[in-house]
Amino acid sequence: MISIIENDKKRKLFFLNTISTSLVVMVHEDNYVFLPYWGSRIEAIDIDYIIDGITEANYMADTDNRKKFQLEVIPQIYPSYGYTDLKEPAFHFVHKDGSRITDLRYKSHNIYKNKKKLEGLPTVLSEDDSEVLELVLFDDLKQVEVIITLAVFEKHNAITKSVKVINKNSADSLYIEKIASANMDIQDSNFEFLHLAGAWGRECHIKRRKLEQGMQSIGSARGASGHGQNPFAALISPNTDENNGEVYAMNFVYSGNFTASAEVDMHLNTRFQMGINSFDFGWTLMPNEEFQTPEVVLVYSNKGLGEMSRTFHKLYQDCLMSRKYAYKERPILINSWESNYFDFNKESLLKLAEEGNKIGAELFVLDDGWFGKRDDDKSSLGDWTPNEKKLGGSLSNLIDEVNKKGISFGLWVEPEMVSPDSDLFRKHPEWAIQVKNRKIETSRHQYVLDLSNPEVCEYIVNFMTELLSKNNISYIKWDMNRNITNMGSSYLSPERQKEQAHRYMLGLYSVLEKIVNAFPNVLFESCAGGGGRCDAGMLYYMPQVWTSDDTDAIERLAIQYGASLIYPSISLACHISDIPNHQTHRKERIETRANVASWGNLGLELNLNKISEEDKKVISEKLELYKSIRSTVQFGSLYRLKGLDAGNEYAWLYKSIDEKTIVVTYVQINVRPNLVTKRLRLQGLDAKSQYKVNDSSKIYTGEELMNIGLLLGEILEDALSYQWIIKKIS
Ligand code: DGJ
Repeated sequence: MISIIENDKKRKLFFLNTISTSLVVMVHEDNYVFLPYWGSRIEAIDIDYIIDGITEANYMADTDNRKKFQLEVIPQIYPSYGYTDLKEPAFHFVHKDGSRITDLRYKSHNIYKNKKKLEGLPTVLSEDDSEVLELVLFDDLKQVEVIITLAVFEKHNAITKSVKVINKNSADSLYIEKIASANMDIQDSNFEFLHLAGAWGRECHIKRRKLEQGMQSIGSARGASGHGQNPFAALISPNTDENNGEVYAMNFVYSGNFTASAEVDMHLNTRFQMGINSFDFGWTLMPNEEFQTPEVVLVYSNKGLGEMSRTFHKLYQDCLMSRKYAYKERPILINSWESNYFDFNKESLLKLAEEGNKIGAELFVLDDGWFGKRDDDKSSLGDWTPNEKKLGGSLSNLIDEVNKKGISFGLWVEPEMVSPDSDLFRKHPEWAIQVKNRKIETSRHQYVLDLSNPEVCEYIVNFMTELLSKNNISYIKWDMNRNITNMGSSYLSPERQKEQAHRYMLGLYSVLEKIVNAFPNVLFESCAGGGGRCDAGMLYYMPQVWTSDDTDAIERLAIQYGASLIYPSISLACHISDIPNHQTHRKERIETRANVASWGNLGLELNLNKISEEDKKVISEKLELYKSIRSTVQFGSLYRLKGLDAGNEYAWLYKSIDEKTIVVTYVQINVRPNLVTKRLRLQGLDAKSQYKVNDSSKIYTGEELMNIGLLLGEILEDALSYQWIIKKIS
């Protein structure tokens, strides 16, 4: 809900209130726009004393020669460079005359319900739960308009923020060097900086460290959001855990280069920003052109990380993912990658599909290696013609035969890439990202196509349209297996080369928009060597992501824990794989592999024809069980019970929407000698209700389960896990 108060000093206070949070924006009588408050919900009252009460700082410039009016120490909504704030600005424009100062002042505002989609960009949207404040700021001298869009999702406890720049100067161009999507100034610095870091195979590990005076930042300049840092950051009060502490979180609805930073200034205030990475970024706006940034989701929680996560999950499931799939139980798939890699023929594929169906899988996915002459990763990306010799006939024929085994069919593609050894590259070498006369570096023997070129985007739309129109494909895994080096475009003019990374994303989003809309019955899963592009931008187009190429159940615990801070379980694909694990050579019992995969959107990735009958039996039982709890895991609320310390134990709990089914899973990584039994205390139950645990005859109260807990029993084995299905009976 947005309400406005105007006081006798002619200051306007906009209260952006959600059920339990408030963000307050103030238009000062000098038309500067300040940010006096972000935190727990407060009713709309005159709080301009927050700004007036800021005392004078020494050695700071005075705005308009007025004492006690120093922009640098006042929390601002979108700070500029050049006048009395010398901290990191939210944006940096270079004007035609070479000057770099922009003086943005409030011009007008607009409030409306039902947020509009950001053109060409993924957007959090809700028809019945969004109200928008557009603040129009203007620089009179240079005729530049900046519109800050704040959308309040009241029932979802979240706010989105984005920025549009319009060059209203009819004579001069404007050069954008930096443009953050969100700037939040907070009058405190007693925080830890929390983010999700890692690498290929070990994405999304939680990192936290104390903020100190100076700049802390994370980001990506890899052409994708990347394995290294997820586009998420939070400032948390010291000792914040799953249930306690203040959390100020930002998540970027974008899949390309980004930065998130926290600058603690000399006066121990914090400037928290997120946006497109300004490294190797630059954008020319000709007269009357505009630039829209992607948006950032802002979530505040005063009940720790658990509440923050449940807020993100619900928001993304209700307002970001495609309506069609958000609350549709996802099929259990069996993927051919770790089962066969490139080594398959029609017979082995059909055998895998048949075994998959017998064991309970619902979708058979043919991964890499089905096209061109691709028997390894050295060729053929770009030549999307099915290899009929390998498939034993046409692709549609194979699909028919798979379907006859009682299972639907999905396919792997990597449309943004081209192999040097491909007909596509031989025909269009200029389509690969490269700098003329310089070598092009390969990664996994492949180049990246220049999606800043509309012709390249059209080619992708065309081949995907043909593939999906001619074949009965119900799922696509859209992969992207390298980062972008030797950035350069033969399509863009020399002055516009620094636009390439963002134009690549705009091109990709336009391609995805066309394809997912044209084929609404196809379920898309995004992948970039696992979680190299696991972000809210991709989630808008593709409602699930391959969380990591690391399928080891123990390694997965930290990865899934971290990813679950933001992304709902329905979106996180988690597969049961073979032992010794292909990434770590570790061997865990099948029950633990299945239990860990049931944290998210469960699938299979192993050769069913090579495993023991006993393991097959367990898998079959686990799939049957998963189907019975799938709606709880995929639509319910997550409570993480253990694992924030990345220690020896992990446990998590899902509660169904109707609160009647509770699924609890516990994993201990290393066995410890001589330990007596411990209990696992649950969360999120109704204290006074009664619960039945598995088939036990004892009835527990919610109070008991939350305060005393479930008995864990003896854990005398590495990587041992337990799972309990708990039913509320009254
Ligand atoms: C990387 C993916 O993450 C894997 O699951 C698999 O699809 C391979 N690419 C195929 O090349």
